[in-house]
Amino acid sequence: MAFIRPMIPFDLVVIGGTGDLALRKMLPALYYLAHDDRIPETSQIICSSRKTMSTEDYHDLVKSACEEQVAKGHFKQDSWSAFARSLTYLAFNATDPDDYDELKGCLKDTTDRARVFYLATSSDLYGPICESLKQNGLITSETRIVLEKPIGHDLPSAQAINETISQCFSEDQIYRIDHYLGKETVQNLKVLRFGNALFEPLWNSTMIEHVQITVAEDIGIGDRGAYYDASGALRDMVQNHLLQLLCLIAMEPPLTDDANAIRDEKIKVLKALKPFQGTSLQEDVVIGQYQGSRGIKSYTEEPDIPEDSATETFAAMKVQINNWRWAGVPFYIRTGKRMRRKISEIVLQFKKVGHSIFDPSAGKLHNNQLVIRLQPDEGIKLKLMTKTPGTGIDLQPAYLNLNFAETFKHRHPDAYERLIMDVIRGIPTLFMRRDEVETAWEWIGPLIEGLRENCGTPHLYPAGSWGPKAAQDLIQLDGYTWHCEDPDDTCDDL
Ligand code: BG6
Repeated sequence: MAFIRPMIPFDLVVIGGTGDLALRKMLPALYYLAHDDRIPETSQIICSSRKTMSTEDYHDLVKSACEEQVAKGHFKQDSWSAFARSLTYLAFNATDPDDYDELKGCLKDTTDRARVFYLATSSDLYGPICESLKQNGLITSETRIVLEKPIGHDLPSAQAINETISQCFSEDQIYRIDHYLGKETVQNLKVLRFGNALFEPLWNSTMIEHVQITVAEDIGIGDRGAYYDASGALRDMVQNHLLQLLCLIAMEPPLTDDANAIRDEKIKVLKALKPFQGTSLQEDVVIGQYQGSRGIKSYTEEPDIPEDSATETFAAMKVQINNWRWAGVPFYIRTGKRMRRKISEIVLQFKKVGHSIFDPSAGKLHNNQLVIRLQPDEGIKLKLMTKTPGTGIDLQPAYLNLNFAETFKHRHPDAYERLIMDVIRGIPTLFMRRDEVETAWEWIGPLIEGLRENCGTPHLYPAGSWGPKAAQDLIQLDGYTWHCEDPDDTCDDL
């Protein structure tokens, strides 16, 4: 059994406590921590928003969110009661200096407990909130600040936010969340690559033909229209989640598992990303927007979305990494809302055998593929060529299949459970350093700007499809197919 470093007692203040993120992700994760008896006695979770509401009403709201979000059979009344005992609500306007005194009154004035401010708000409030926390003497040596992505909407705004925050907190007190880094299978990428001697010699342009990263969602934008329309898929998903996955696949082996050793390697990948310039913007990038289909509304009919919105709900691109290991290997990445189904996966396609000894009548030799399924049905499968049992030679692809749920019977903690615990325990490995965030903006900022200036409106795609046809053309022009759309394969069987 792995040793789990316990958390010290804490005061966790969630600013934005009635928002989608808090109700859908954070509070259910905290419920699970209570359920597993991980929340130390005397800890407090203080959730705040501008709304006037009693703690009892807030409990009702959180309880129904938890009942909806936690897996069937995991919601237990006694775990809920234990969780609810540590949970209070505070009506608090983060932009009103007078409200900070009341917040101060809620916090325990000792340095032997962690004090965490979790900002689940729009990132333009991060600077002003941090300044107010400082002015009101709320920052102790054991204080940490947690910031949700995306930080800013381009490089200058991210720099300005980071600069203001750095006047209030030291870098080791700042936890910039990208919850993909907390996912069990994303964690496992590190172990797969650096815990096995098998893959590393193959993990380069000599053996790998191309890489695909897909993060497809079947859901739409829910009630986050105002946020989403100002962000779009490039800022909401590509700038952070997809680039982080790409870094973990492409980075060199770090010296140790230490936070900075890993971040140093990730940043080298970000710096090696080839910028999209001139025609590559039209040729190598596709953006899309979902259109009503099968009873699902169009993006522009969603609440808070202007009817002429040109915001992209889908993005696909061919990314090149200008370094020794990956020269000439395309990384195709794509993400979208309202796609056929929810699936996040990484596919490494190996090169073909140099020469086939088999008669063409034996069938086609497929490329080997390593498929890393991040969600759902987490697992890893390796596509190999085999012979169908029988007297002749009949070539057939088959899979070595590692299904995590079947292999490890216990529940995978949700990303937010792990990340919240790490903040309280002061472990920064799974969080982004300032230079990572800014380097990611440095690469994607000009891409977003270039698209806005040159390429007009996104391609429309029917809700419930795999995205616009142009995204299939993008990869097919190079002779490949998106893994999930490959008629010769199935992505249903992990
Ligand atoms: C969030 C994005 O960061 O990630 C959302 O803001 C998206 O738009 C979500 O739905 C996806 O996370 P997950 O864990 O459900 O894949």
